[in-house]
Amino acid sequence: MLEKIQQTAAFLKEKMHTHPETAIILGTGLGSLAHEITEKYEISYKDIPNFPLSTVEGHSGKLIFGKLGNKDIMAMQGRFHYYEGYSMQEVTFPVRVMRELGIRTLFVSNAAGGMNPDFEIGDLMIITDHINLFPEHPLRGRNIDYGPRFPDMSEAYDHELIRQADAIAAEKGIRVQHGVYLGTQGPTFETPAEYKMFHIMGADAVGMSTVPEVIVANHCGIRVFGVSVITDLGVEGKIVEVSHEEVQRAADAAQPRMTDIMRELINRS
Ligand code: HPA
Repeated sequence: MLEKIQQTAAFLKEKMHTHPETAIILGTGLGSLAHEITEKYEISYKDIPNFPLSTVEGHSGKLIFGKLGNKDIMAMQGRFHYYEGYSMQEVTFPVRVMRELGIRTLFVSNAAGGMNPDFEIGDLMIITDHINLFPEHPLRGRNIDYGPRFPDMSEAYDHELIRQADAIAAEKGIRVQHGVYLGTQGPTFETPAEYKMFHIMGADAVGMSTVPEVIVANHCGIRVFGVSVITDLGVEGKIVEVSHEEVQRAADAAQPRMTDIMRELINRS
């Protein structure tokens, strides 16, 4: 495992002209940030040794190196979801490669169903914490020496970055929510009873990604900032049929606000 990670990192280091300390997983709601990256150098996942391949609609699958504002960055366009059949090692492989490349801060986004009754479709939710309900743990197995066997998760989402994001949102007049993201394997959306259970468990939003990558980032000592776009509501009395297309539509509508906050936060961080 470690050998593969190092092999992939060595391959990328040969190609990179920069030494980014910031990485972005361009999840739902952040796709258009890719267009703002300048001095781009792109590599398709299929051309990167040991990289899994992305299969989901709307995710083209490449690494982009370049500048966002003045900052050297590395961006992942297309992520690996557990529901696609990848192992947890595969889902989180790119984050471990990031660690080898010297990444210190990771920005992530996702689409999520909102269970907090104060939420509305299109809201941005700054992730303050998460609940891991994936059936397999990404750190299961022999510990890789990037971090301890039993990693602390008391501040999985960096408080200082959350504070800065709040300040930016206030300056820009963008409404943001805060909340706990619950990660589950999917690919089904939740039944009304499941949304209710997840809310009782303490979650404000539910989605099918992010948690594995964030766990591994924490293990590696990479600090994390995450935002969910609330694309549908799992609130009693407001539950209607959900489809991938509707999720995409709601996320597209929120994209300019999401991008605005992330761009500025990355610049300042
Ligand atoms: N549940 C799980 N994942 C999701 C949802 C949801 O309601 N909306 C967007 N991704």
